[in-house]
Amino acid sequence: MNSVVVAGAQWGDEGKGKVVDFFAQQANVIVRYAGGNNAGHTIVVRGEKTILHLIPSGILHKDKVGVLGNGMVVDPAVLLQEMEGLAGRGIKLTSKNFFISERAHIIMPYHRRIDSAREGAKSKQGKIGTTGRGIGPAYEDKATRAGIRFVDLLDEEVFAERLRAVLKEKNAYLKHVLKQPGFSFAAVRKEYLGYAKRLKRYVTDVSLLLEDLLLKGKKILFEGAQGIMLDIDHGTYPFVTSSNAGVGGVLAGCGIAPYFLQEIVGVIKAYTTRVGGGPFPTELQDAVGGHLRREGAEYGATTGRPRRCGWFDAVVGRYGVRVNGFTGLALTKLDTLTGLDPLRICTGYRVGRKRLTEFPADIRQVERAKPIYEEMPGWQEDIRDARRLEDLPGNAIRYVRRLETLLGVPFFLMSVGPQREQSIIVENPFET
Ligand code: IMP
Repeated sequence: MNSVVVAGAQWGDEGKGKVVDFFAQQANVIVRYAGGNNAGHTIVVRGEKTILHLIPSGILHKDKVGVLGNGMVVDPAVLLQEMEGLAGRGIKLTSKNFFISERAHIIMPYHRRIDSAREGAKSKQGKIGTTGRGIGPAYEDKATRAGIRFVDLLDEEVFAERLRAVLKEKNAYLKHVLKQPGFSFAAVRKEYLGYAKRLKRYVTDVSLLLEDLLLKGKKILFEGAQGIMLDIDHGTYPFVTSSNAGVGGVLAGCGIAPYFLQEIVGVIKAYTTRVGGGPFPTELQDAVGGHLRREGAEYGATTGRPRRCGWFDAVVGRYGVRVNGFTGLALTKLDTLTGLDPLRICTGYRVGRKRLTEFPADIRQVERAKPIYEEMPGWQEDIRDARRLEDLPGNAIRYVRRLETLLGVPFFLMSVGPQREQSIIVENPFET
């Protein structure tokens, strides 16, 4: 296959970084299609850890092309910092191997300030628990047509005109509603024109570029951020991010035609985690939750916040498979379950007297949902050296097979440790 999408099947943090990194070996081009630096992809190569927030993580391989699609919101200061970090490790981004969509929107300083001030003003229950990076306010401006895109930034006059108009409104909102200081037009203009100068050479028509590459038979990996349950349309609204993290985001966020999409791989953890606010039916606040957090190192790659942990939720999993049309799955962090016995899998919810097997849109129903569990025996053996399914203990094989049956999609890959090589590869979608 020439195109593979890798997207999160739960609430983000499924371990997409490692899966993308693995599939990227076969790809020529790696594209981010949604989100911004709210994402954090952790990749461990030969014991060295790299966290990337904007640049596609596949770029860590030699001779790859990295692309930021129009569906993203990009903070230029963060991007430049990340580029410098990579350069320090010998990975140089040039106008030949790195491209930014001219239609991608730019995160401005007022977006960040509005994001944190709004969260600060919310009650504990109402907090979305955003990453504070200005993501929501930037997408909000995109939707209300007040956003600034790279193509606008590159034209000094257009940029000044748009910024002047937008800033007037933002400053009034910051001052009078959020009781925060505003921004000086001259200072923001100067700062951002500086970014424009440094980033100009990478800005291009990504839609055209990708079509051309696809027609030439290049292998393209579309790298998702967050997960379907954080998707603005299909997630646990309003406890979601502000973009289409699901497969729908690929078409809108890159400007390519649907017939180019072939394999769609969902990344799914062997249990469930979520960071930030919002309902989470299988959440565990006991010793098992502590085991998952400790053994799975469940702390946010972007904010360092401890992640909320719980049992595998097959209602969420099936929903993700259906909405995204996953053709295969990558199961991650199976090793974290070692030592837990029994294991539990949620197969439905009880809400009052009703039994639900489909994920409800009504957030109050999700809040009231009591998981219906089935139990399976766990295993004690260290599985991190398993490289084939047969290397796993019988109970681990039964657990994996049960998940596959419940989800109705095969596992292409199973991850049994954080290192690149700690994986069981069943099928590589670029090789089918
Ligand atoms: P925002 O994207 O910063 O607006 O945050 C909205 C919600 O999405 C919050 O609950 C965040 O914790 C969550 N979120 C955003 N990005 C990620 C991610 O990459 N992984 C997990 N959760 C995320």
